[in-house]
Amino acid sequence: MNDLNNLCPPKEIAAIDADGKSIGFNMPSEPLTCSLLRVLAASKPAGNFLELGSGTGVSTAWILDGMDVNSRLTTIDNEESLLQILRQHLGSDPRLTVVCGDGDQIVPSLAGQEFDFIFADAWPGKYRFLDKTLSLLKSGGIYVIDDMLPQPNWPEGHEQKATALIADLENRSDLKLVKMSWASGIILATKL
Ligand SMILES: C[S@@+](CC[C@H](N)C(=O)[O-])C[C@H]1O[C@@H](n2cnc3c(N)ncnc32)[C@H](O)[C@@H]1O
Repeated sequence: MNDLNNLCPPKEIAAIDADGKSIGFNMPSEPLTCSLLRVLAASKPAGNFLELGSGTGVSTAWILDGMDVNSRLTTIDNEESLLQILRQHLGSDPRLTVVCGDGDQIVPSLAGQEFDFIFADAWPGKYRFLDKTLSLLKSGGIYVIDDMLPQPNWPEGHEQKATALIADLENRSDLKLVKMSWASGIILATKL
């Protein structure tokens, strides 16, 4: 088995990648991670999806590709220049709501909403507001984070933050989780 064979990316990916490179965006979610997001998205028909850290829309495109017609995705990023690329390629999808704003403000404001799936690819939702983010998950809902293996762009001291986050997640009694040393390092958790 070669897990990179026949990934079949969504049709928008080549153009989103090209536009992202043209503005020097070097943090798109990587293809294996995205292929997992798509499979998970397909497991939640009529699901309510949340993505924290849209970037230029690479992971967004893969999540949309797995979602059925009755599902909805809200994606949040604080960089309008990145979201312009996302909107250009994905903005006509009626299932998608794009929010430009600070996740540190928005995550707490979502209290009371319920999601079937959360991909947290920004500090809010992962290294900040973890409790509040997990409180947004329905029972049976899935929480996904990536970049949990050491990455070349990690700043000094980040490894300790990642270790603390893993311990926080492992110590929660309201989650079942799996850590995968695959792709950039994935943690997948289901809310009980
Ligand atoms: C790892 S990148 C996300 C990549 C994206 N998933 C993709 O596939 O292109 C992290 C993103 O988080 C965004 N971000 C950083 N701090 C944020 C904040 N406080 N609120 C919202 N978004 C934030 C950045 O602008 C960046 O696009």
